[in-house]
Amino acid sequence: MAMSFDTIIRGGTVATAADTFQCDVGISGGKIAALGENLGEAKEIVDATGLLVLPGGIDSHVHIAQPSGPGIVMADDFSSATRSAAFGGNTMVLPFAMQRKGESLRAVVDAYHAKAEGKCHVDVSFHLIVADASDRVLGQELPALVEDGYTSFKVFMTYEGLALSDLEMLNVMSVARDTGALVMVHAENYDAIRFLTDRLERAGLTAPHYHAASRPIPVEREATHRAISLAEIIDVPIMIVHVSNREAMEEIRRAQVRGLKIYGETCPQYLVLTAKDLEGLNMEGAKYVCSPPPRDEASQAACWEGLQQGVFALFSSDHCPFRYDDPHGKLAPKGRTSFRWVPNGIPGVETRLPILFSEGVNKGRIGLDRFVELTATNPARVYGLFPRKGVIAIGADADLALWEPELEVTIRNERLHHAVDYTPYEGLKVKGWPTTVLSRGEVVVEDGRPIDAPGRGRFLACGTPEPCRAGGGRIV
Ligand code: URP
Ligand code: ZN
Ligand code: ZN
Repeated sequence: MAMSFDTIIRGGTVATAADTFQCDVGISGGKIAALGENLGEAKEIVDATGLLVLPGGIDSHVHIAQPSGPGIVMADDFSSATRSAAFGGNTMVLPFAMQRKGESLRAVVDAYHAKAEGKCHVDVSFHLIVADASDRVLGQELPALVEDGYTSFKVFMTYEGLALSDLEMLNVMSVARDTGALVMVHAENYDAIRFLTDRLERAGLTAPHYHAASRPIPVEREATHRAISLAEIIDVPIMIVHVSNREAMEEIRRAQVRGLKIYGETCPQYLVLTAKDLEGLNMEGAKYVCSPPPRDEASQAACWEGLQQGVFALFSSDHCPFRYDDPHGKLAPKGRTSFRWVPNGIPGVETRLPILFSEGVNKGRIGLDRFVELTATNPARVYGLFPRKGVIAIGADADLALWEPELEVTIRNERLHHAVDYTPYEGLKVKGWPTTVLSRGEVVVEDGRPIDAPGRGRFLACGTPEPCRAGGGRIV
C-alpha cells in the first residue's frame, strides 16, 4: 500500500556527503520518511525538477546579539540573523553565548536563550565562550553545562577581556577532556598584536588597513602552534577556527599527520577577500576588518588546499554583523581614531553557501559531495548533532535546501536579509543559489516569498562531539 506523506519533494537531484542520485523525498512529521521513486500521495508536492536537493546548511560559527564593547551594537538579533541564514540555504546556526569576566556562565546561557526566545526562523544550538576561567566556572558551571548540551566552547588567545593565558587554556582543555567537550580556539598572539598596534599608532598609521599589519601571519601561526602543543599536552581534540593562511593551515596538517585530533575551519573571507580590500578610501576599509584579517591570493590558494585535502573539516561564515554607517558599528567615533577600535567582524551568514558553491563546486575546485560535507554533514558530526541534522537519510530532520545550480546572481546588499547596511561581497558574481528551504519539513523560504516564521526555530542540545567520542574517527 502506498504511503501518504505530508510533503513530497519531487523530481530533484539529491546530493549527500557520499553520493548524488535522482530520487523523491517523502516527509512526515518533520522527518525524512522515504527516499525513492513513485512515493505516492502527499498533502503538498514541491516540484524540484532541475534543482539540487541538499541537506540544509549548518553554519557552525556565527555571532548574534553579542555585546561588543562600549557603544557598539551588533546589527542582527536572532530574528534577522536566522532569517538571513535561511535565505542563504541554512537550516541551523550555532551562535555563541559569550561570558565576560566575572559573569556566571549559566546566567549568560540563560540570557542568550531569552534573546533567542520566540525569534528564530531555523534551529539553534549554542557554543559557549569561556572568558573567566575561574575555579567555580571550570569546576562547577562548565561540567553542568556540558551535561545540558552545551558541548563546545571557544577560547580566545587575543582580545582585551577575553584572552586566556596558557595556564587558563590548559585548565579549560582539561575540563573539556574530562567532560567530552570540544574546545574551539581563536589563535592569535595577543602580546604580539599589542606590540605591533602600539608601534603602528606611534607612527601615526591608524587607518583601517593597518589592522592587517597589526596581525601578520606569524601572529596566527605562532598561536596555532601553541594551541596545538597545549592540546597535545592534555591529549584533547581542538578545533582551530577561522584559519586564514598557509602557515597556520600547515601547522594543523602537521599535527594531523602526527595523529593528533586537531581540526580546522576556514571561512569565505579567506577565499575571496584580501588585505587590499581593507585599503578603501576614508573609512571604507572598516567594512573588511575582521580577525584574523584576509591575507593575499597565495593564502586563498592555501585555504582551498585545506578544504580540498581534508585539513579543514568545516567551512563556516564567522558572521559577525556590525552596520557600517553607524556610530554603534564600524564608524564608531573611536574607530575613526585608530583601527584598534574598529569593531572586528563581518557579516556573511547568507552568502557563505553561494560563495563556496560558486567558487568551489561550479569552478571545479571541490565536488558537490565535499560541499555538503563541509557545510552540513561535518558541522553536525563535529558538534554532536548527527544524524538528526546534516544528512538526507530516513529518520533525519527534513532540513533541506533546494538549489538552482545555474542561477547567476550578483551579490548586492539590497537582496540580503540581514540587518547590516553592507556586505563585504558586494558585486561578487556567483552561480548557484538556494531558492527554497525547508526546516523540519516546513517551507520557510520560497523563491521571492519572505518567510514569516519567527519562533518556529528550536533550541537543540548537542550531544558529545564526534571528535571527543571514544574511538571516534577523524573527520576530514
Ligand atoms: O573578527 C572576527 N572574527 N570577529 C568575530 C569574533 C571572532 O573572533 O570570531
Ligand atoms: Zn574568533
Ligand atoms: Zn567568530
